[in-house]
Amino acid sequence: MLRIGSLSLPTPVMLAPVAGHCDLPFRLVVRGCGFMGLAFTDLLCPHGVLKQNRQTQYLMATCEADRPLGMQLYGREPDLMCEAARWAVDHGADTIDINMGCPVDKVTKTFAGSKMLCIPDETVRLAERLIATVGDRVPVTAKLRLGYDSEELTAPALARRLVEAGIRCITIHGRTAALRFKGSVDLPGIARVVESVHEADPSVPCIGNGDIRTPFDAQRMIDATGCDGVMIARACLGAPWLLCDTAYYIQHGQLPDELTLRQRLGCLRQQFRHLLAHRETRFAVNRIRQKIGIYSAHLGPCKSLREDVIAMNTPADFDAAVDRFLDNMGDAADRVPVTWAQRDAIFCREGRSLDALATAVTRC
Ligand SMILES: Cc1cc2nc3c(=O)[nH]c(=O)nc-3n(C[C@H](O)[C@H](O)[C@H](O)COP(=O)(O)O)c2cc1C
Repeated sequence: MLRIGSLSLPTPVMLAPVAGHCDLPFRLVVRGCGFMGLAFTDLLCPHGVLKQNRQTQYLMATCEADRPLGMQLYGREPDLMCEAARWAVDHGADTIDINMGCPVDKVTKTFAGSKMLCIPDETVRLAERLIATVGDRVPVTAKLRLGYDSEELTAPALARRLVEAGIRCITIHGRTAALRFKGSVDLPGIARVVESVHEADPSVPCIGNGDIRTPFDAQRMIDATGCDGVMIARACLGAPWLLCDTAYYIQHGQLPDELTLRQRLGCLRQQFRHLLAHRETRFAVNRIRQKIGIYSAHLGPCKSLREDVIAMNTPADFDAAVDRFLDNMGDAADRVPVTWAQRDAIFCREGRSLDALATAVTRC
């Protein structure tokens, strides 16, 4: 159980905001795997929220099965941010998260996202305004990186001030913005932010984030940093069951039964169904063509399936491709193709990072 202000969460595992990926169809698949924790929308532009253009409507789309849900806003203009936060809370947000980590130029050139780490006074004032506006209805939270660059690791001091101002949860991605996704996550850096948050208010949780690729990574991060929970982004995009398995592992110290090949492809099928329900067919087909590459690391040898899905044009083609593949796999369709322990051993042995995945998903 994790408490974020008035919100009680059954698990300390969270689904991260990942622009272009963690939309409603994906969140519903993650929740369909049994995940009951907090998930987030992509970062939302307050102008878009207030104008309700088509893209923002899609990014904000939610439903009863998609709870609890945090909506993440980026920007530094207090009136606009407050109005957008009010709108978001009226339309299903259980928390409002302020993005203080985005390294993308489009965002940082307006001193939003990770640039907010460089202007702590203004950032704290913005947080105070948001808390005064919606803090009596939902908790306001913030997601930070360790600093803008290695010259100034501002996160520990800023996190403390944000908590003192009334922010109810801090998520810390253990890299600087300058690093983007390079190198490995800095666990001692996360530990410093955790310490700072707990010193300011022990009841405020601090969530660690970065490079969690298996349930074992999550437990290692908790053990190494003392964080109250973890947030997972890239590694679950092709394995939506990772969140649920991680929550189970943290709670029980062992893994649940792992999903078979057929069940994993069932997740991909579900995602396609949800996409078709929420977007036009062409969008859904294109998205699932990209997804097959991201899922394939968890499917074992599946070259023929990948080729068929990339070549497909209609929903019927997709169903036929999956059915054909499963038929050809025979008994192996009902076995676990790649276990978390096998993936963990590869990562530990070869030090393989999620860098490549970051590049792949950014291109999608
Ligand atoms: C393609 C992509 C889009 C992202 N979009 C967001 C976003 O909208 N908001 C945010 O706070 N972080 C965003 N992130 C950062 C992730 O939430 C997370 O902090 C980061 O990927 C590290 O976690 P991981 O190692 O589990 O992937 C994004 C990351 C990627 C790769």
